[in-house]
Amino acid sequence: MTETLLIEGVRVCEADDVPVGEGRAVTVAGRPLAIYRTDEGFFALDNTCTHMGGPLADGLVADETVACPLHDRRFELATGRAVGHECGGVAAYPVEDRDGDVFVTVPLLESLAADNPEPDAGAEEPEPEAVPAGGESPAGNTG
Ligand code: FES
Repeated sequence: MTETLLIEGVRVCEADDVPVGEGRAVTVAGRPLAIYRTDEGFFALDNTCTHMGGPLADGLVADETVACPLHDRRFELATGRAVGHECGGVAAYPVEDRDGDVFVTVPLLESLAADNPEPDAGAEEPEPEAVPAGGESPAGNTG
């Protein structure tokens, strides 16, 4: 049986690390994410474009969407829905600013579950880890 585990409230960066109108790449539990900041708040999407894998964190943010930097396919920031193309959408994740720190909730990667197909009933679950791309390790946790 497969269960979906959520990693709730992983701190990914400081709010000030993401300028308004831009995105930043982070990795949470092995999942590459793009964190965006707009006048409406923060958004989190998968960082991998469904067209040919472009880095969506490096895309241009406008009109509540991000445009992939490689071939300009657009995705809605709030939902990850594909806008004006047939390549499919990307996953969107709950994200919030808690007093200047940005937290994201993500499902645990299926590959991690596949690595441990018969979990030990007494084993502890792995600690979530957030690593900003090219940056220092954040110190926060969900408390
Ligand atoms: S890789 Fe994103 S539009 Fe082509």
